Amino acid sequence: MAMSKILTIAGQRGGTGKSVTAVNLATSFALLEKNTLLIDTDPQGCATHWCGIKDVDYTYNIASVLSAKVKFTDAIVKTEFSYLDIMPAGFNLFQVAMKLAKHPGNEKLLGLFLKDVEKEYDYVVIDAPSSYGFLSIMAMTAASWLLVCMSIPQSSTEDFHGLLRCVKYIRTVHHIPLKIAGLLFNRCETMEEILGFLDYHSLSDAKQMVFNNFIPDDDKIRKSIDRKIPAALHDIKGPAASAYLNLAKEIHFFLN
Ligand SMILES: Nc1ncnc2c1ncn2[C@@H]1O[C@H](COP(=O)(O)OP(=O)(O)OP(=O)(O)O)[C@@H](O)[C@H]1O
Ligand SMILES: [Mg+2]
Repeated sequence: MAMSKILTIAGQRGGTGKSVTAVNLATSFALLEKNTLLIDTDPQGCATHWCGIKDVDYTYNIASVLSAKVKFTDAIVKTEFSYLDIMPAGFNLFQVAMKLAKHPGNEKLLGLFLKDVEKEYDYVVIDAPSSYGFLSIMAMTAASWLLVCMSIPQSSTEDFHGLLRCVKYIRTVHHIPLKIAGLLFNRCETMEEILGFLDYHSLSDAKQMVFNNFIPDDDKIRKSIDRKIPAALHDIKGPAASAYLNLAKEIHFFLN
């Protein structure tokens, strides 16, 4: 099997839909029968919970791996989708990250661990926390591709430029050829709206980076979050679930 495609869901602004995207894109790859590993790197554990993983379902999580308590594979949990595994996160990740952040170079740890399992998965999807703390940099440094989540009412020119600066930092400081797979617009209804937004914010050059598929605002997302299941399991024909499936196909086509 070829090396896996490691995609980190990034975006500086909080609440643009990174965790929703990580869960539903990973589920969509799994529905396309691609072996997928979802890694939660946010101590909030949203991606973990929204996949239906409860605290009783696992003994070890990403914090156990990063603090060298267990092997990487010992913290991988199977989900009810046959092609989807997850590495959960919980609040203890916050404490582990504080310790790790004291030593430069530790932000490369996740990337190093991933080398051991790269052959087992077609896709590794990493949910990153907002802002540029240790965990976000670790999540981005582990990736070969970034998927940048944007939402029209929330994202700004500054956020986008900040992200580009961060990509440049990772490329130069960590010598990692990180690339942007594309910009994903969440909670929007038309492509015109997206292009208008980019023009308005003097980001016209970024138009070529926008994915053809965008995610509509969909009450079924909120319902699936309440039920702690991926949107496709709540209603596979729902607007956002369909959009995520089409996005997974678009990304698969683009990366292969
Ligand atoms: N397409 C959508 N339709 C409806 N609601 C959505 C959609 N996307 C996101 N939401 C809502 O927005 C909230 C925030 O989304 P999410 O947690 O994925 O953002 P985030 O970028 O991961 O935030 P954080 O920076 O805190 O990690 C969700 O709890 C959900 O209620
Ligand atoms: Mg999140």
